[in-house]
Amino acid sequence: MDLVFQNTFQGGPTVKKKVVAYERVEKPVLDQLKETYDVQFFKNIDTRSDEEFLAHLKEAEGIIGLALNVDKQLLDHAPHLKIVSNVSVGYNNLDVAELTKRGIMATNTPHVLTDTVADAIFGILIATARRIPELDHLVKSRNWNESLTNEYYGVDVHHKTLGIIGMGEIGCAIAQRAHHGFNMDVLYHNRSRNETAEKTYKAKYVSKEDLLKQADFVLLMTPLTPETEGLLGLAEFKMMKNSAIFINGSRGKTIIEKDLIEALQTKEIAAAGLDVFEQEPINHDNPLLDMPNVVTLPHIGSSTHETELKMSELAAENLIAGLNGEKPPTLIDESVWKKLNS
Ligand code: GLV
Repeated sequence: MDLVFQNTFQGGPTVKKKVVAYERVEKPVLDQLKETYDVQFFKNIDTRSDEEFLAHLKEAEGIIGLALNVDKQLLDHAPHLKIVSNVSVGYNNLDVAELTKRGIMATNTPHVLTDTVADAIFGILIATARRIPELDHLVKSRNWNESLTNEYYGVDVHHKTLGIIGMGEIGCAIAQRAHHGFNMDVLYHNRSRNETAEKTYKAKYVSKEDLLKQADFVLLMTPLTPETEGLLGLAEFKMMKNSAIFINGSRGKTIIEKDLIEALQTKEIAAAGLDVFEQEPINHDNPLLDMPNVVTLPHIGSSTHETELKMSELAAENLIAGLNGEKPPTLIDESVWKKLNS
């Protein structure tokens, strides 16, 4: 994709607009942005105290990147900011209400990652059910020396019941795989009904409690908001079948992680597949890391070469539009646009 850059400074000396890039922007996109803007890239810094970061932020009109915590304190250091462009679909790192109040646009990268995340979630679901990482280790550690006994068996995925909490675009793409690919029954719980899921993938809308009680696989796909923080704790894990497999593809803080650990230790549930954790990168002494029935990924659901590039490109399009005073393609809160144009 060719990014369309417009230099709004016509006549007079060209002053490049300052942009802060943070943590993850793919190199070809970053290089292209650098041709037009004064972009400084930051990674692994303390954003509260790093002097170079704070100095650049003071002049910056745009921020592009992943998981930068943009709150009132950071915004007080960024008086010229016009746009914060997240390279992710989730935006729990942004205080969107505060950004809107200050007339600063915020954008994310939906749609381009939907199928990639759905593939990854289905991958971890199958890996957990069929114990793929554990058995891979058995083979590679030269411990496969006799014919297998039932202690190595996993459980079926096909024809089972998948319960999806959070039926947005990604939830729907997972329901598609479950229904068409694996003949699964799909239950879901969501803030609102999802007609596509119901009509096309025969997903059945149920209460959270019914979903937890009936599903063989409980999949959490909600965004992290004040309403979903700690959505699943010990009481909810206890409602699940003892044979249930829990999959988290949302954010670590949508569950109470210590309760998940207890539910696994006391065999309230059978296993878990986790792409997200309360603390990322995960603490090395986290008990989840020593559980063979837990499959872990380093929050990598959307991260393929193709999709990371598409996300960076979309984030750059958003950034450029915002810097040029145009409406970015995937603005999170439309009301900021009305406010800027009233
Ligand atoms: C990944 O977790 C994302 O929000 O894009």
